[in-house]
Amino acid sequence: MRGSIVIACVAGVIASLIWAGRPSGAAPAANEVMTPVQRADSTPRGKLKNPYSDTDAAVVAAGNRLFMNYACSGCHGGTGGGGMCPPLTNDIWVYGGDDDTLFRLVAYGSQELQAKGYSRKGQENVVAPMPPMGGIVKTDDDLWRILAFVRANYHGAPQCKYGCPAN
Ligand code: HEC
Repeated sequence: MRGSIVIACVAGVIASLIWAGRPSGAAPAANEVMTPVQRADSTPRGKLKNPYSDTDAAVVAAGNRLFMNYACSGCHGGTGGGGMCPPLTNDIWVYGGDDDTLFRLVAYGSQELQAKGYSRKGQENVVAPMPPMGGIVKTDDDLWRILAFVRANYHGAPQCKYGCPAN
């Protein structure tokens, strides 16, 4: 009995050494769960795409819960319609309305996003920095579900759902 516990411990230590020995710069496999920042860092600009549809009711409901749990609602209001901060549901997109830009904006925050070369296109009633939420939202999957919920609540002009054509 004791022997098998020792073996289990040794195996655990070896596994964690192998894990720690992974080169830190190595790109994780595409299907691996990552934090939002890892996902954004390891994906070329313009290539982040939501795997979920905003018509998938179960995903949207999960995204709604996460939006509350991660306190996005504290700033943006319960349905993303704006509170102290800009609405997420209208056709004004501050940095662009495509999946790639929204994912990076939430992961990095608006200041780092701008430092990475993205520029402000629109202006809402509130102009303040969007905090980096990439260290708070646990996984890329959680963030995609949240963004599916945001899309499902979009009430602006249909042609501007993913950014206005003129932008
Ligand atoms: C402390 C307040 C605060 C919190 C918390 C917050 N945001 Fe924001 N968010 C902002 C502000 C302010 C902006 C506008 C940034 C600007 O004008 O540069 C913004 C912008 C955005 C935008 C772009 C809106 C547009 O019209 O282009 C999205 C999408 C967004 N936030 C999603 C989220 C999500 C998802 C969360 C939770 C994971 C979250 N925010 C948490 C303050 C907040």
